[in-house]
Amino acid sequence: MRTRADRILVTLSLAVILSGQSPANAAATAQQPSNGLSYINPLIGTTNGGNVFAGATLPYGLAKASADVDGQNTGGFGLDGSNVVGFSSVHDSGTGGNPSLGNFPLFPQLCPDDGDINSCRFRIGDRKLHYANDSVTARPGYFGLRLESGVAANMTVSQHAALYRFTFPQDSDGDKHPLILLDLTDLWQSRQNASIQVDERTGRMTGNGTFLPSFGAGSYVMHFCADFFGPDIHETGVWVNSRAGTDPKHVFLTRGFNLFYLEGGGFVRVKPPGEDGVVTVRMGISYISSEQACRSAEREIPNPLKDFDRLVGEAQSAWTEKLSPISVKSGGATEDLMTSFWSGVYRNMISPQNYTGENPLWKSDKPYFDSFYCIWDSFRVQHPLLTILDPHAQTQMVEALLDIYKHEGWMPDCRMSLCKGWTQGGSNADVVIADAFAKNLSTTIDWELALEAVMADAENEPQEWSYHGRGGLHSWKKLDYIPYLDFDPYGFGTNSRSISRTLEYAYDDYCLSELAGGLGWRDLQAKYQRRSMNWKNLWKADQTSLINGTDTGFRGFFQPRYQNGTWGFQDPIACSALAGFCSLTTNPSETFEASIWQYLFYVPHSVSSLISLLGGDDAMISRLDFFHTSGLADISNEPVFFTVFLYHYTGRPGLSTKRIHQYVPADFNSSPGGLPGNDDSGAMGAFLVFSVMGLFPVAGQNVYLISPPFVEEISIRHPVTGKTATVRNIGFDASYEKIYVQSARVNGRPWTRSWIGHEFFTEGWTLELVLGAEESGWGRDVKDRPPSWSGDVM
Ligand SMILES: *[C@@H]1O[C@H](CO)[C@@H](O)[C@H](O)[C@H]1NC(C)=O
Ligand SMILES: *[C@@H]1O[C@H](CO)[C@@H](O)[C@H](O)[C@H]1NC(C)=O
Ligand SMILES: *[C@@H]1O[C@H](CO)[C@@H](O)[C@H](O)[C@H]1NC(C)=O
Ligand SMILES: *[C@@H]1O[C@H](CO)[C@@H](O)[C@H](O)[C@H]1NC(C)=O
Ligand SMILES: *[C@@H]1O[C@H](CO)[C@@H](O)[C@H](O)[C@H]1NC(C)=O
Ligand SMILES: *[C@@H]1O[C@H](CO)[C@@H](O)[C@H](O)[C@H]1NC(C)=O
Ligand SMILES: *[C@@H]1O[C@H](CO)[C@@H](O)[C@H](O)[C@H]1NC(C)=O
Ligand SMILES: *[C@@H]1O[C@H](CO)[C@@H](O)[C@H](O)[C@H]1NC(C)=O
Repeated sequence: MRTRADRILVTLSLAVILSGQSPANAAATAQQPSNGLSYINPLIGTTNGGNVFAGATLPYGLAKASADVDGQNTGGFGLDGSNVVGFSSVHDSGTGGNPSLGNFPLFPQLCPDDGDINSCRFRIGDRKLHYANDSVTARPGYFGLRLESGVAANMTVSQHAALYRFTFPQDSDGDKHPLILLDLTDLWQSRQNASIQVDERTGRMTGNGTFLPSFGAGSYVMHFCADFFGPDIHETGVWVNSRAGTDPKHVFLTRGFNLFYLEGGGFVRVKPPGEDGVVTVRMGISYISSEQACRSAEREIPNPLKDFDRLVGEAQSAWTEKLSPISVKSGGATEDLMTSFWSGVYRNMISPQNYTGENPLWKSDKPYFDSFYCIWDSFRVQHPLLTILDPHAQTQMVEALLDIYKHEGWMPDCRMSLCKGWTQGGSNADVVIADAFAKNLSTTIDWELALEAVMADAENEPQEWSYHGRGGLHSWKKLDYIPYLDFDPYGFGTNSRSISRTLEYAYDDYCLSELAGGLGWRDLQAKYQRRSMNWKNLWKADQTSLINGTDTGFRGFFQPRYQNGTWGFQDPIACSALAGFCSLTTNPSETFEASIWQYLFYVPHSVSSLISLLGGDDAMISRLDFFHTSGLADISNEPVFFTVFLYHYTGRPGLSTKRIHQYVPADFNSSPGGLPGNDDSGAMGAFLVFSVMGLFPVAGQNVYLISPPFVEEISIRHPVTGKTATVRNIGFDASYEKIYVQSARVNGRPWTRSWIGHEFFTEGWTLELVLGAEESGWGRDVKDRPPSWSGDVM
């Protein structure tokens, strides 16, 4: 049980010193666990399609240890009552589709004591077991549960290695020999070939396998090094199918007849454990070699029998440090909301993963991050949140994107396991770059290289554009839109999504124009500004939208358009929650994972032009209201985020505030099913965090839309400048009757704009919002609305 903490002050001594306490007190406080940390519940999103990684990890860690189940397992573990099939050391978080990673799982068991190794259960179908529901324990840097067999599994991690403690129940005779197997598989059973050797004396297992990325092209090789500690080794060997033997000590598995999938791996049996029943396993992982996997494991976890608590403590410190910029005065906001908030911050820093020093693809002195999974999801709020809370990490991620460009010719739209991931929409790394530029993220970024990388997306159509660059660029340049059923013999990709690609390419081009302009290339700026208005070419002014045969009354929607200029047709509600899901493979359509109704609102650079097309502020408001109340809006997917706050552009920021209260807390709570959809590497969590904070980022622009926080006050110390920014509600009311801004001040001076720039964070400003129960005129003037580019080329 937690006691209600009115003021959650993070414990970093710097924060304490700044708040005026004596250094002695500061040191004492620094030893307390951070309140933010104690709120984190990694199990949020482990059912109901959140697909989060619930196990033990360091911030951006390569090693991610968890139990793997045969139910909802894209992130490894699911709290859905399914069966545990193993315990593995690498994962992704929040992704949908195929389960990701989960390579080389271990599985502990006590076999029947009949002297026959084949009495042990090797194959997944034979060995899988339920876990005891009430045994599941997850905290930052720690995960544990107990299997129905009575064997408990506890785990923690360092950067490149996982440490498991398997506790076997006492057996009455005290002469059982626990078995731990290693399975040469991954969660998706994508293994192409793999090998293992087992050292007879020590039990050390080393090897590698070739696997397929869960949402991408090509294959990757992963290496491992497993060591066993505690009881002495009794016997070792390998297993294939349901049979095992102590000779030979190595096996090489391939895919044979019809790509038949063979299960197999290695095993050790140990002498009866001591009184504590514990067998400790250390698992090193590397993308370079099994030697490197062993070296990392030995360096990071030198005393496996003693290091468990130290590693858990170090993980907690690392997470405490990451949370330390934030302090919250809840003012009576619910504990449930605080738990969702801090857990959202936590999940935002699980991925991308830091594979620096683990990149076999090229040599470089730049950082290498992987698991950008996917940027289509993460550019909107996840990377903007990292930019505020961890600009060092965000800088390294941007440098990694540029280094990927330098060595592979393209930045990714999605990437995992060293492979190119499938592109979902536009070339949205462009937005991440423009966002970094607009916010002066770092002086170490090579902006000329950045311009080159973004221009490659805008100008060069690759032969294969399903996993990098853009498709249809010949038409884009000639016709100024992506045609429906484009004739494109120059490059190949999933030739759908003409509407969503047109909209995304247009915004990507706007981001490019801003970058070019900022670097002094006026001609390029003008060129791409012009292209950024291409979205207008798919506007069909007389298009109607019917639901079940009844006209919704709205006129004017985007529609697919053939190369010859003739209109095609896609029902504006298709691909919405009312009409069924559309992905790249499921029912591919002219819009990706969302409807024409949803994409109607994706013109982030020129919302005022969109409002004019629709017929003015009130027309925009009725569209938004209908969208959010008719079942068309899908809060479980990222495109919806921006639409919640779009009322700002009509001069009605209060309506954005009202709208976010429709979704928070209703769709975000701290239960295992408390996320509305895939967390997508932390994107859902970041949306909740920004909503609670009351500042919504317009990714790619130096703009945050202001709405009152869901807490009384929230402060963020900028990790680079050390200055603290504060948003404070005046007249805060935790029952949320008074949610409307009446007036605002920044550093004591009146602030009439409904938005603010990133300087707020870097310069450490104070924003005070006076609240009332009715919408006011604040933010209504045209000059006070968020910036919108008119379409006049400069
Ligand atoms: C464990 O939880 C799952 C999922 O909620 C449920 O189906 C199952 O019945 C529970 N098992 C027990 C023993 O309570
Ligand atoms: C190991 O995990 C079990 C099950 O979650 C738990 O009861 C036990 O306290 C844990 N032990 C340690 C040392 O963390
Ligand atoms: C393993 O499989 C990969 C992918 O099919 C292939 O490129 C590689 O040559 C194979 N390795 C061996 C040793 O057969
Ligand atoms: C994987 O291990 C086998 C057996 O030790 C070795 O021959 C092979 O070179 C390794 N593969 C890679 C890619 O390192
Ligand atoms: C990533 O890893 C490298 C190498 O260990 C390290 O120097 C760097 O600081 C890490 N980056 C972050 C953001 O933790
Ligand atoms: C970025 O730097 C420029 C030039 O120093 C400055 O004018 C601008 O305000 C800065 N922007 C932010 C978001 O800090
Ligand atoms: C449309 O009609 C079907 C069948 O009558 C009904 O199930 C569905 O709820 C209706 N949808 C809407 C959005 O009214
Ligand atoms: C344009 O192309 C479409 C698709 O091929 C065709 O159905 C339509 O008739 C054409 N329109 C004209 C005016 O040629």
